[in-house]
Amino acid sequence: MTDSVVPGSDIYTDEFAADPYPTFARMRADRPVCPVSSPRFDSYLITRFDDVRAALTDARLSKDLYGPGQHYLRIFGPNSEGLNKNMLNSDPPEHTRLRRIVSQAFAPRRIEALRPRVARIVDDLLDRVVVRGRAELMRDFAIPLPMTVICELLGIPAAEHGQVLGWTQVIRTSGSSRRSPEEERAAVQEAQLRLHHYLADLVRAKRARPADDMISALVEACDRDGTLAEPELVTTTFLLLFAGHQTTADFLGNAVLALLAHPDQLELLRVTPRLLPSAIEELLRFDGPLPVASPRIATEDVEYQGVCIPSGSVVGVVINSANHDPEHFADPDRLDVRRVRGPHLGFGYGVHYCLGVSLARMEAQIALGALLRRLPGLRLAVPLAEVRRLPAASPFRGLLELPVTF
Ligand code: HEM
Repeated sequence: MTDSVVPGSDIYTDEFAADPYPTFARMRADRPVCPVSSPRFDSYLITRFDDVRAALTDARLSKDLYGPGQHYLRIFGPNSEGLNKNMLNSDPPEHTRLRRIVSQAFAPRRIEALRPRVARIVDDLLDRVVVRGRAELMRDFAIPLPMTVICELLGIPAAEHGQVLGWTQVIRTSGSSRRSPEEERAAVQEAQLRLHHYLADLVRAKRARPADDMISALVEACDRDGTLAEPELVTTTFLLLFAGHQTTADFLGNAVLALLAHPDQLELLRVTPRLLPSAIEELLRFDGPLPVASPRIATEDVEYQGVCIPSGSVVGVVINSANHDPEHFADPDRLDVRRVRGPHLGFGYGVHYCLGVSLARMEAQIALGALLRRLPGLRLAVPLAEVRRLPAASPFRGLLELPVTF
């Protein structure tokens, strides 16, 4: 194991962001429960598949990051509390209550009904780039597609999509500008605050004038049985907006880059489109869009791999490492779009299993299918090593830009 993963050290370097998988492999082999520092907080990273899966259902590891010790407040500052206190950051029974009302809206049948509209959005975006012969695929495709889908689903007026995107991008790309960390933090807090006020106003507007959209349906359901208080409706809307486009956008970027870096797999997929559903699972396994770790808090001393994690510690569950564990995936660092759909953890596991899984799979299938069909000569416009990524300490694993020609 290199010095970069000894206890207390900082692994969040640009080199690590470019390719974290060798570090994860060393951690899995030598120190599967590894104490590390980040610019924001210290944590124990859990890296082996079986341990990650166990941790994702371990009731002693709390998702209530505002609970005793108020870790998120300490780590991310007071403005984040208002928006981030949502189902993803809560434990049962609170979590069950917050999730139940939204899950009806994400029933696979309802999501399937969106397919023609998603296909239309994909075609419109590609119509705009196809004549140019070159594109920056994050800006022109991977971000606007899921952003438009989730905004329409929620009922955010089309004229306001750009403004909302502006705020979410400040949060997404934090750490990548030349600003000082203090300025960066202030910009993120400002964007969160504006988004918070915007969504609170929107929820009020939907109550006054309901429409055929998800926010109106949530407002109506809550008014009927009082399940969620108004501030909870706002934080739920924020979670759906963010979770609904950020991960999908980064997944699409990572997936296209992985295919461009493996031209044989790209070609195989192009000539055998029926492989697309399994290819999407493989691409998610190969390089998922989640941050290094999904944080939890140990509510008591817990032991994994003989390591005692003291009560109160931040525990990072490293899904991308679990998905490269050779105990579960043969030749795990090889991209193989023919790989039989395996039990990867890319959409999580247990009670917090991704609520938007059907939507994410559908968007990815339509988007990647259309890209392969309509941009047959797709290739990188810059050398692979020069593709700009989100910074190592970003809360997301994705690309800043993906310049291509076709
Ligand atoms: C939760 C992955 C797309 C909504 C999660 C979790 C993962 C995940 C791993 C669990 C996190 C944890 O346990 O800490 C992904 C990936 C996506 C994606 C890889 C795209 C490729 C979406 C979409 C939506 C969505 C399109 C739609 C709104 C949610 C919500 C939760 C969640 C609401 C919280 C569920 C809960 O706490 O019960 N997602 N997601 N996700 N996801 Fe997704």
